[in-house]
Amino acid sequence: MRRLDIALTPAGVSGGLYETAAVVIDVLRATTVIVRALDAGAKRIIPTLDPEDAIRVRERLGRDGVLLGGERNAVRIDGFDLDNSPASYTPESVGGATIAFTTTNGTRALQRVANAGAPRVICAAFANLAAVVDRLAGDERAHILIVCAGTEGAVSLEDTLCAGAIAAELVVRDPGVTLTDGARAAALLYNGVRERLVEAVASGDHAQKLASMGFAADVVAAAQRNVSTAVPVYSDAEIT
Ligand code: MLT
Repeated sequence: MRRLDIALTPAGVSGGLYETAAVVIDVLRATTVIVRALDAGAKRIIPTLDPEDAIRVRERLGRDGVLLGGERNAVRIDGFDLDNSPASYTPESVGGATIAFTTTNGTRALQRVANAGAPRVICAAFANLAAVVDRLAGDERAHILIVCAGTEGAVSLEDTLCAGAIAAELVVRDPGVTLTDGARAAALLYNGVRERLVEAVASGDHAQKLASMGFAADVVAAAQRNVSTAVPVYSDAEIT
């Protein structure tokens, strides 16, 4: 039997994830952007904790072909090339580039899970839901952990819904997977709103904040399922 568990915030992650199939979700907007960037032809994404670290990455690699992306307080960081809107990551803007990327919650969650011992961390969003479920169905490790980035330490509705979507679909694909109560609760939540997902995602705290700042289109974009077959994996300090 394989067991799927969900951490509703990164605080729920301790150590010992060496043998775990680990997944990180930040629907609004980091993992949605990561999926979009790779689809747009970015060569790799290097997540960093702070803007200063991202700048250091570019200094180390040289400016050629290296872009700075991400946000603080949801907007582009001064001196950065790209913000944290999926729509900004196009073949014209990021094709062939390495992106040093920092966001408030998403890149922190990725680093926390990697530091807890996970050798490879899958980046999931609604955009690549079916592709992530496929990947997990083909992975034989006994423990699957989905970590929601949440928002500044708090549970976020959209990440919980996405974790529930993965759980709900994976148990159908692979009856050998059992859910913990946390995963079961998230799956029930998702199944309750799966026919009105955009509306459900848009009702969350962070979605409302983004909409009030003029990013309502990002919220709608992030709630679209299966628009990508990419499965970005964070390993050895980079996402490819
Ligand atoms: C984050 O990582 O905190 C988010 O991606 C924030 C945002 O919506 O820009």
